[in-house]
Amino acid sequence: MNPPILVTGGTGTLGRLVTPLLRAAGHPVRVLSRRGGPATPGVEHVAGDLATGVGVDDAFVPGTETVLHLAGGQQGDDKLARTVARAARLAGVRHLVFISVTGADRVPLAWLRNKLVAEETIANSGVPWTTLRAAQFHELTLTLVRKMSALPIIPAPGMRLQPVDGREVAARLAELALAAPAGLVPDLAGPTTYGMDELIRSYLRATGKRRLLVPVRLPGRAGRAYRAGANLARDGATNGTRSWEEFLTERVPPSGSVSRCAPGGSADAHRLHGE
Ligand SMILES: NC(=O)c1ccc[n+]([C@@H]2O[C@H](COP(=O)([O-])OP(=O)(O)OC[C@H]3O[C@@H](n4cnc5c(N)ncnc54)[C@H](OP(=O)(O)O)[C@@H]3O)[C@@H](O)[C@H]2O)c1
Repeated sequence: MNPPILVTGGTGTLGRLVTPLLRAAGHPVRVLSRRGGPATPGVEHVAGDLATGVGVDDAFVPGTETVLHLAGGQQGDDKLARTVARAARLAGVRHLVFISVTGADRVPLAWLRNKLVAEETIANSGVPWTTLRAAQFHELTLTLVRKMSALPIIPAPGMRLQPVDGREVAARLAELALAAPAGLVPDLAGPTTYGMDELIRSYLRATGKRRLLVPVRLPGRAGRAYRAGANLARDGATNGTRSWEEFLTERVPPSGSVSRCAPGGSADAHRLHGE
């Protein structure tokens, strides 16, 4: 029988997409998350917290050869990575796969600095490793533009994004996990680069909403980095093929209430509408 693969954060957006692929490749999967989950054929859940270490040893049992470390969020990723690196080393893990974010080494924001520290921790863990930096998933992009579109006036930061389909990130991670450790591999981004305003506009069109869009200049060093495209994938990146538009069509049913509106606004404020 194939050895089990441990997936931290296997109950999250990405983890839920990766786990079935590992199962389909014939591997039992053990999932570590704080809340745990119901066992399904071939998938065992362990409740544990990588921030405190509680329950972690129950997941990193000796004989675990491959670990995908996907648990994380907006803060504390450096700490979670330290716990994972230590536990993986002690358990004799042979391949530690980590998901990071494009621009982690170039955008001066605290959560990305933490991500970079996490990358370094994995790389220095003493366990053979692979790290993939992915762009923002379509799923997260949709959550973001949906929230922004709830506002009557939408501040549109001057930044570009390369949204990628989470299913393609999951497929690449499964492929990497089943191959030999490869270090920092080429970034994975979506097929197209969009301005934030274009992403919001496409959502408004799809939902038939009308909103005022106000361009916003992001302040400080981080703002300069975003304007310079420091968050975008590095040269040599791999590009997914599933576009943001396809994803939007899947997730947002076509609206019958799309209406045209008169042109308006000023240099700083543009009336957005579905066309
Ligand atoms: N979403 C994106 O656009 C994107 C893009 C590039 C990279 N990434 C990276 O991909 C990873 C997964 O993202 P996602 O969107 O799937 O996140 P998500 O949906 O928020 O899932 C996070 C997962 O981590 C678990 N988790 C969080 N804190 C934990 C802790 N202290 N101990 C144990 N488990 C913990 C969560 O379960 P519990 O809450 O039950 O613990 C959940 O299973 C993250 O590292 C993220 O930075 C995401």
